[in-house]
Amino acid sequence: MRFTPQFLDEIRARLPVSQVVARKVSLKKAGREWKGLSPFKQERTPSFFVNDQKGFYHCFATGSHGDIFKFVMETEGLTFAETVERLAGEAGLQMPKAEPRTREAREQADIYGRLIALTEAAAQFFETQLAGPGGEEARRYLDKRGLRRETIARFRLGYAPNSRNELKEALATQGFTAEEMALSGMLISGSDIPVAYDRFRHRVMFPIADAKGRTIAFGGRALEAGVPAKYLNSPETPLFHKGSILFNAHRARPIAHDKARVIAVEGYMDVIALAEAGFGECVAPLGTALTEDQIQLLWRMSPEPILCFDGDSAGRKAAFRAVDTALPHLKPGFTVRFAFLPDGLDPDDLVRTRGPDAFETVLGRHVRPLFDVLMEKEEQAESGTFTPDERAALETRLKTLVARIGDPTVKAHYESELKQTLWERSRREVRALTGAGGRRTNATIGRRRDNTRPDWRQRERARQERPRLPRGLEPPVASHELVARAEPVSQREALLVRTLVNHPWLILDEAESIADLTFAEPGLARLRDAVLSAVMDENLLDRETLASHLSSLGLAPALALVERAITHRGDKFAEPEADRAAVETGWHNAVALQRKEQLRRDLTVAEQAWHEEGSEDAFARICELQSLLNRTDGMEPATEGSMG
Ligand code: UTP
Ligand code: MN
Repeated sequence: MRFTPQFLDEIRARLPVSQVVARKVSLKKAGREWKGLSPFKQERTPSFFVNDQKGFYHCFATGSHGDIFKFVMETEGLTFAETVERLAGEAGLQMPKAEPRTREAREQADIYGRLIALTEAAAQFFETQLAGPGGEEARRYLDKRGLRRETIARFRLGYAPNSRNELKEALATQGFTAEEMALSGMLISGSDIPVAYDRFRHRVMFPIADAKGRTIAFGGRALEAGVPAKYLNSPETPLFHKGSILFNAHRARPIAHDKARVIAVEGYMDVIALAEAGFGECVAPLGTALTEDQIQLLWRMSPEPILCFDGDSAGRKAAFRAVDTALPHLKPGFTVRFAFLPDGLDPDDLVRTRGPDAFETVLGRHVRPLFDVLMEKEEQAESGTFTPDERAALETRLKTLVARIGDPTVKAHYESELKQTLWERSRREVRALTGAGGRRTNATIGRRRDNTRPDWRQRERARQERPRLPRGLEPPVASHELVARAEPVSQREALLVRTLVNHPWLILDEAESIADLTFAEPGLARLRDAVLSAVMDENLLDRETLASHLSSLGLAPALALVERAITHRGDKFAEPEADRAAVETGWHNAVALQRKEQLRRDLTVAEQAWHEEGSEDAFARICELQSLLNRTDGMEPATEGSMG
């Protein structure tokens, strides 16, 4: 329905922005404005402002800006029409009457109404069948696949009996005509078919719903392997256009909004298993590649949907196809990201065999930006030898692809990104050629290719974040030089060593765990070793004696480094005068944090290995580290910030 500007203004006039926002964000008065924590981003200091006079909100953390309608759409995932309806209600306004319909339109609406009633009746029929005596085999099947009762009920799974007319007869007793049944796709009919018959027979039934949650079609899964079609879907009907529907969208939408994330997977069973594992924000296309319409639907749930594919070559191909579909429609701030599963497992298998953490891992820092997958797609077509002709062909293809981006701003970003990537690549190639004595070996080529990846990822991330920062607040670009500059000695590492030097008695109780500590700064590791052996081998437990012993070993500069690194003295336990209990508590906290940081570093290494090799081992290692990290999460002492 179209709304007149007057009607929308009337709603705006009656509902102050602060009132609408206050349902989601707790606001405090700040001068003429209100401020609160951004609902779009985790933050500790408020950067979300509301101005009732001007009728808008502005979020400095994300750059999001708008009126009450936009706010409700963005935070609750409603469509514009739904939002207007909701806010009109809140404002105490009647919705405008729809224009009187033509007779045709009225009849059309009647047909939709009838068909929806019919598919709903069919859904109930299938549910009843699954619960009844004829549904035993199907129940066993679902059981075998590990589905819980509540899940079956929530997704309204059912069973189509092995009969050509049971559904047909059930629908007839409810007053549906043969014509309606044929139109709904529930029967197989046609001029060459003398007696129309039930389309779905002896299958587990998955109802497919529209955005409002009304059943409009079905997918049916065969119970046995070796049946001609493992899944059978409703045909296109007046209600159901499979390219513009996503399975589970109506349930996923609110969850996607809360979690600020939506995930598209390939199959119904994946969506259901993931929902069971706590990932309610998943949807799936209906047995076809993702369409443009479906990408638009995903964007209504989250600006950067994650498309999840199998790690095998079929999965890559499907991802490349999605790149092609998405490219022309990219908008500032709206893109797609890609997650690849370990080889041979779909999401259903993954969560069942490895648990939810494993899927979270796939989604976590392994998610790859569009640009990255786009480069891979075109490079894959290369033979790997890179003659000048081939390089030129690659460049042309990449440029043609980028030229397909419709939005000029996004296109410009991609163009400059591409230019930089190609330039860096050719520089690297020249270096490989000259550096390796003018000969290109396979090894140098392989390495060069891998080296290009992290750079794209880093830059893509930076690029995605750029438009969201308000002007003037942009951080300086993290150039490679800055990143490469030597890290200062970590406060925590310095603190640990300082504690040992000031409280050598700790070593008597903790020698083993102290020996196990890893330090990023090698100088500190040497200092630790020296303190350890001074205490263990020479029994130097006196603070002053130990200090002069360390100096005599030439370690005075390292000690000075430790002193300098500790720029604030908030952590009293390292000081000489701290009492025993404080030293012990402080020490254990600091060690726990140090371990955690080490786990994070190991994780980064393992992730890199997984990206490069994609091996099962690397993946298992990631899962192990992730669960160790999860276990340490609860014990984060409040002092972490001060010891960062
Ligand atoms: P998959 O073959 O990957 O099956 O099909 P799956 O999702 O792992 O299902 P299970 O675990 O074997 O039960 C993925 C999706 O492709 C469509 C369906 O939408 C399915 O969910 N499909 C598959 C069909 O439409 N027809 C088929 O014959 C097979
Ligand atoms: Mn499966």
